[in-house]
Amino acid sequence: MGPLEESYLVSALRSGWVAPVGPELAAFEREIADRVGVAHAVALSSGTAALHLGLLALGVGPAHVVVVPTLTFVATANAVSYTGARPVFVDCDPATGNIDVALLAPLLEQLRSSGRQVGAVLPVDIFGSCADYSALLPICAAAGVPVVEDAAEALGAVHRGRPAGSFGHAAVLSFNGNKIITTSGGGMLLSDDGVLAERVRYLSTQARLPLPHYEHPEVGYNYRLSNLLAAVGRAQLRRLDHMVTRRRQLRKLYADLFAAVPGVRLLAHSDDLSNCWLTCIVVDPEAAGWRARDLADHLAARGIETRPIWKPLHLQPAYAGAEALVTGAAQHLFENGLALPSGSVLTEHQRATVLTAITAFLDN
Ligand SMILES: Cc1ncc(COP(=O)(O)O)c(C=O)c1O
Repeated sequence: MGPLEESYLVSALRSGWVAPVGPELAAFEREIADRVGVAHAVALSSGTAALHLGLLALGVGPAHVVVVPTLTFVATANAVSYTGARPVFVDCDPATGNIDVALLAPLLEQLRSSGRQVGAVLPVDIFGSCADYSALLPICAAAGVPVVEDAAEALGAVHRGRPAGSFGHAAVLSFNGNKIITTSGGGMLLSDDGVLAERVRYLSTQARLPLPHYEHPEVGYNYRLSNLLAAVGRAQLRRLDHMVTRRRQLRKLYADLFAAVPGVRLLAHSDDLSNCWLTCIVVDPEAAGWRARDLADHLAARGIETRPIWKPLHLQPAYAGAEALVTGAAQHLFENGLALPSGSVLTEHQRATVLTAITAFLDN
């Protein structure tokens, strides 16, 4: 956050539009839609809300199962649960961490032949790298299953010339505080389908009809983004390219640092059109002679925060007993992966401190 965000926010505040309605919202939606190349955008209070309403607008409900990668943030599966549908987890590609597309066709066939109705497939663009949509979309189309792209982390990434957020029947962005651009909290539903987008907009505003009195044909939600936060988002969007560049530079520094280190690889490093939201390493303890958690401890002792890669959702108590088609790939990443400091606002000095601390660990 800097002077640009401050000036946008102050001007929105002074305009008097201090509500989840106003000109900043409309402008933010238009600017994101143009940036991603989709026809419609609906700004919402979180990415989770956008996933929830996107699924509802596709008709997903208690009769359905929804295919969700097991390696993702819990919000992806929670949104499915809110609709009354059940998530069926599928494992990831060990090289990228994204949904293992080779498992998808057999899983959809297995679900179909056992009489389950698949409401949607919900691929996630993990850590800012797009899922393999070139392979995934034809499989889902052949099975007649709609796709909702969870691009919460991936604004600014590209897959074969198409921006993240433009795949599937609908896509979702998050503007949570840790995302590549933020409104402190917020999200967006993107779609080329105007009917779907309008349904989401209506559900997000308590399902109120545009009449002079309050008329609600069904139960809706209070999921709209504040006009003030949309103003912050507009300022952040102007700096998106700069933030992606900063994160890509940092990714390159890590890549160079670990290039000659045995037993260490960067997750999805070959995807140079990632927005590099988060840089993760995967450690083979046998070949490296140390474990990911050893490096984490070394850095923590120097005040540098790292995180394990997500614990897969099929291993989470909240989803105990859920159906899952797993190969062990996500569990391997959880046990051997480490997310490194990746923020665009890290100063040169902070970057150097992190890299020096890692070098010292490796030299030991
Ligand atoms: C992959 C993924 N999906 C969904 C979400 C949910 O977004 P939000 O926090 O805006 O609800 C997040 C991030 O928080 C995420 O990383």
